[in-house]
Formats: sequence, structure tokens, C-alpha cells
Amino acid sequence: MPDTDGTIGTAHAVAHPSLAIAKYWGKADRGINIPATTSVAVTLEALRSRTTVRTRARDAGQRREHDIVTLDGVEQDSRRFRSFFDRIRERMSVSLLFESESLNDFPTAAGLASSASGFAALAAACVGALGGQLDPSALSALARIGSGSAARSVFGGFTRWEAGAEAAVQLQYETWWPDLRVVILPVSGAAKPLSSRDAMNRCRDTSPYFPAWIEDAPGLAAEVEAAVQARDLERMGTAAGQSYLRMFATMFSSIPPIIYWLPESLAIIRELATLRAQGIPAWETMDAGPQVKVFTDRDNAPRIVETFQPILAEPAIVSTVGPGVTVSPR
Ligand code: DP6
Repeated sequence: MPDTDGTIGTAHAVAHPSLAIAKYWGKADRGINIPATTSVAVTLEALRSRTTVRTRARDAGQRREHDIVTLDGVEQDSRRFRSFFDRIRERMSVSLLFESESLNDFPTAAGLASSASGFAALAAACVGALGGQLDPSALSALARIGSGSAARSVFGGFTRWEAGAEAAVQLQYETWWPDLRVVILPVSGAAKPLSSRDAMNRCRDTSPYFPAWIEDAPGLAAEVEAAVQARDLERMGTAAGQSYLRMFATMFSSIPPIIYWLPESLAIIRELATLRAQGIPAWETMDAGPQVKVFTDRDNAPRIVETFQPILAEPAIVSTVGPGVTVSPR
């Protein structure tokens, strides 16, 4: 029975970003957001996307007859979400419309994986608002339609998303590595000039190094996974460094080149190399934006924050390993 405002079902979901240690960069030629590289990632406790979804019948009177998506208070172009919502309707065998409101507690689209947590929360809230239940693997495959990395954000702890796979899998729970810290260093709060989707497609189409990246990526993913399983920070950090720098090599060498880095990003990379030479365990990674994220341990996280805070646009964030998506009726 619909409410007086036409709402049929409501659910609220919370999801955390998935930070790739070995990167997903490139899509297979078939399906939507099927990865060409295996990625291994960690879910970040300290950042979250919160999404409320309401479902409405198509004939709900004066309401607009399409899905509505609001992100941080701003209505989005619903065409961007069309195939995602259609896939959920198809999977759940309904024709209802979705109305969603999402809030990120960190800068959206600035290379902090907001699309990963955003679509994981959205998929879970849509299914919840329909009164349905999906196993995590099916939810991961649905979230992926919105954004590839969201396939991993459905799960907490450490995840692997295999090249060619529709869904990610969990490698370890969030309690696996209590001493690990990820320090997020936001050097800019501005939205990225080019989406990761457009950037990875341009790299595939124009970078002469892209085939080498695809050939090289499985070995790095296996190395990162082995390091996670051994809780070996140095081994993981070393492989993580190779993964992000080789990913960026495809960006620097594409036409026109893609350069997300800012001078502060490079200053941090160089200073971290100096700190490592002094025996401080701290290895960085970057994604489709200028922010730098540092893998370190509990004891050294405060020092990393202190060192870099003066050149940051916003306060540094220290994260532990986070949980998977949660959903509640509301
Ligand atoms: C650099 O998941 O944002 O963060 O599937 O096109 O939505 P789409 O791309 P997206 O790409 C993430 C790229 C990355 C690396 C990673 O998270 O693995």
C-alpha cells in the first residue's frame, strides 16, 4: 500500500569506498564494466556514502515519470543512471521508479572512490526498498553496472575482482589486519576534469603502453594478494607502487595525455621515498585524481599526517579497514 506521498518502499544503505591496491584500469570488450585487469582492494572505514531510496509506482500522479537521483543535495542527470536502474528492475522483476538521495562525507568525484561507495550503497538501497534480498555476489554484480569499483565496495575487508568477472569476491574480513592504516592526503577538493571511465577508455584507444599494462597487471595483482594474505606491508606497498605508477604510465602516454597529478601530489611522492629510505613504512597509491593515499601502520600514521598536513587542501584522514555495505529499512 503506497504512503500518501506515493512511496511504496524505502531503505537506507551505507557503503565505504574501495581503494585499489592493484588497479582496475581498462574494460573487457564485452558486457558493462567488465574489467580487463584483476584488482585487489581494501575497503576504507573512515569514508562513507549514505543513500536513501524510495520506490514509486509509475502512475503516482503529479510526480515526474522517471528515476530521480540527488547527490549531496544536487539533482543529477538521470540518464547517467538509466541502465543501472533498468538492470535492477530487470533483476528484481519490477517496473517501479526509484528516487534516491545520497550523501558522501568526503569530496565527490575528486579521486576518492566516491563512485565505488556510491553505487554499492545505491544498489543495496534499491534492492532493500523493493523488499528484496540478494546474496553479496549478486549485489556486487549489480553495483558494478553503475561503476566497476562498486563491485568491490559491496564487501568489507580485502577484495579481489578478477579480470573478466561480473562480481568481486572477499579475500579477508575487515578484522584481518588491525594494524594497517591508510592515510588519505587530500591535496585538492576540486572535481576531477575527466572521469575514470573516459580516462581508461582513452588509454586503451591511444596509449602504446596499454597492451603492456594489461599483460603486466595479473602478476602485480597476485603479488598484492599474497602480501595481503601474509600481512606484509613492505611487500604490499612495493607492489601497490608498481601498480599505480604503471597505470599512470598509460595515462601520461595517451593522446591527449591525462595528468591528474598536482605539484603537491609529486611533492608527497618524493617525500615518502625519503621517509622510506629512513626506515618509515609508508607506500603511496593514487587513483583518477590528485589525492595521495598512503599505506602505513598504526604507529606511523600520525607522523605521516603531521608531515603532510601543511600542504593539504583539507584535513588528512586516517582509515582502518572497513566493513561492507549495510542496509536498513527506513
Ligand atoms: C583508478 O570504477 O570509477 O580507481 O567502472 O568506469 O565506473 P567505471 O570506473 P571506476 O574506476 C576506478 C579506477 C581506479 C582504480 C580502481 O579503483 O581499481
